Amino acid sequence: MLEDMKDLEAIEIGLNLEKDGIHFYTAAAKKMEGQDVEAAAVLRQLAEEEQKHYQDFLKKRNELTGNEHSGHAGIARLMKKLVHTGIFAPFGESAQKIASVTEVWEIFAMAIRAEKDSIFFYHEAADSGADDSGRRMYRWLIGEETRHLRKLGELYEKYR
Ligand SMILES: [Fe+2]
Repeated sequence: MLEDMKDLEAIEIGLNLEKDGIHFYTAAAKKMEGQDVEAAAVLRQLAEEEQKHYQDFLKKRNELTGNEHSGHAGIARLMKKLVHTGIFAPFGESAQKIASVTEVWEIFAMAIRAEKDSIFFYHEAADSGADDSGRRMYRWLIGEETRHLRKLGELYEKYR
């Protein structure tokens, strides 16, 4: 269903994903500060790593916009489609979500779901026409988010 996705559209979605991730992990770290110093530190580190991914997407977008133009209408349409079909539950609205959490493990469960969605998306992006360097970037990101997933799994087990 993502076969019509252009490289630039994928990058825009990636930017949104990473930005949401930064907000989510920052808010989660803040919430954990008074409760568990170790978990807060891990969450802060995750926020920093998503910040780096965000910068990588910006760099990639700058590389591509020199010779390719893509309408933002297409991106908006695709995002809407992804959200509507429910295959995609990004970190979005993380401030409200984290505020409503009463158990610590719920934070990690939410993060695990969002990381899984990110990994799914990056697989699709890597397969949907990215050039060699784009594919390398997405494969690298899949490795990164998989590492996040493992770390979050350990924390989930610890608190559940
Ligand atoms: Fe990321």
